[in-house]
Amino acid sequence: MDSFTLVIFGITSNLAQIKLIPTLYDLVAGGAIDSDFSVIGVGRTPMDQSQFNSFISKTLRTPNRHHTHSIDGKIESTLLTKLHYLPADLTDPKSYEQLKNKITTLRHKNLMIYLATFPSLYSTIFNELHSAGLTTSSVDSWTRVMIEKPIGSDRSSAAEVNNLITKYFKENQIFRLDHYLGKETLQNILTFRFGNGILEPLMTSEHIDHIEVTASEDFGIGSRGSYYDQNGAIKDVGQNHLLQMIALATMDKPTEMSSEAITKERVKVLQNLVCDPSSLVTGQYEGYLTEKDVAPNSTEETYFSFKTMLNTDRFRGVPIYVRGGKFLARTATEVAIIFKDSPNVLIYRIQPNEGIVLKIMTKKPGHTLELEESYMQFCYPHDVDLPDAYEKLIIDALRGDQTYFNDTNEVDAQWAFTDPLIEAKHGMTPAIYAKGSWGPKDDINWLEPSTAFCSI
Ligand code: BG6
Repeated sequence: MDSFTLVIFGITSNLAQIKLIPTLYDLVAGGAIDSDFSVIGVGRTPMDQSQFNSFISKTLRTPNRHHTHSIDGKIESTLLTKLHYLPADLTDPKSYEQLKNKITTLRHKNLMIYLATFPSLYSTIFNELHSAGLTTSSVDSWTRVMIEKPIGSDRSSAAEVNNLITKYFKENQIFRLDHYLGKETLQNILTFRFGNGILEPLMTSEHIDHIEVTASEDFGIGSRGSYYDQNGAIKDVGQNHLLQMIALATMDKPTEMSSEAITKERVKVLQNLVCDPSSLVTGQYEGYLTEKDVAPNSTEETYFSFKTMLNTDRFRGVPIYVRGGKFLARTATEVAIIFKDSPNVLIYRIQPNEGIVLKIMTKKPGHTLELEESYMQFCYPHDVDLPDAYEKLIIDALRGDQTYFNDTNEVDAQWAFTDPLIEAKHGMTPAIYAKGSWGPKDDINWLEPSTAFCSI
């Protein structure tokens, strides 16, 4: 890996504090970056370098549900030598000239730009980066850009964002990030399916009764009201993370394990998913309206469920039930494949109790014939620290590997599927549900995510 400067727009954002700064620490601690590098954090807040260092130290020491480990002073000092702060007005061309000067002074070969800002700022940032001459790769060095979901807020605005990015960057410079694709447990679905093959012949409508996809969280929106209340749960996790879970669990075997072939199969699934807005159920947890930065009469949903189906020969007729939400009974992210006429369920558990398990019937030991449910299970060993999705994706992007990033067609297919759901939700009032429940009632007899396997 050649030396690089990483510019993070939005270094004081919630995303940077919860994910990016701890991830940089972990990358340094784990020795995952084998080249010289610097990070320029760009933010609106006026701060000098020593105030910025204190901000970083405080952020590292503020535990969140992703990063709870202790901080080693030596590693922290190494990280701080690499971090620089640039206070900037993102709408002012002068800020981009200052940024350019700083990048030039650091003298690294390559440039990675990370947008951790509100999506509404993307177009301004791209235009200004271009005017400052900060968007082009040369023969022997690269410039790349990483942007977070959501790209746009519907199909047409996503197309506008994509048109704008592709005006200034070539597709091989663009890394559209949905961090679910960087999760070890999600990537393992592909290895499990295509590296084994024993269950693959059963992945058809002949054998599968239905599929359930769940992303439930037992906590609320925290301090993210201003973002969340403009989006709601469908846009927050449905349009992206949950659709990606469906894609990996149902896609056809790629012709080869290359970035293009894998992306092509994911996109094929997304383009063949049939949206059924009439199945949509939305809910809002009790107390949402008094959360910080939430409109007092907001009708944004914090829960949704819907039914979809794949219009392909293999899966036609298999209902896929999807749900996601905040302040539900338990945090559990999984895909459950329920087989016909049998007690068998194949579960890809993304988190917690990560693993891949098959629910089976066994005989209870004893002198009578009594059956009990058991799990044949692959679980990650307890002493293995799974790399965080952001760590994996940042390293992939530095290496130029786009396998687990979204291309323009993928983003378009996700919005083409989601737009009708968003339209439907605007005509609905979300049902209020109690915190800690499984959300509003719908017609689906959901399996409760089990805690009986891969337990810690
Ligand atoms: C983010 C959403 O993209 O994903 C959050 O904005 C959600 O609302 C989070 O909590 C879930 O990610 P993870 O990695 O904790 O499952």
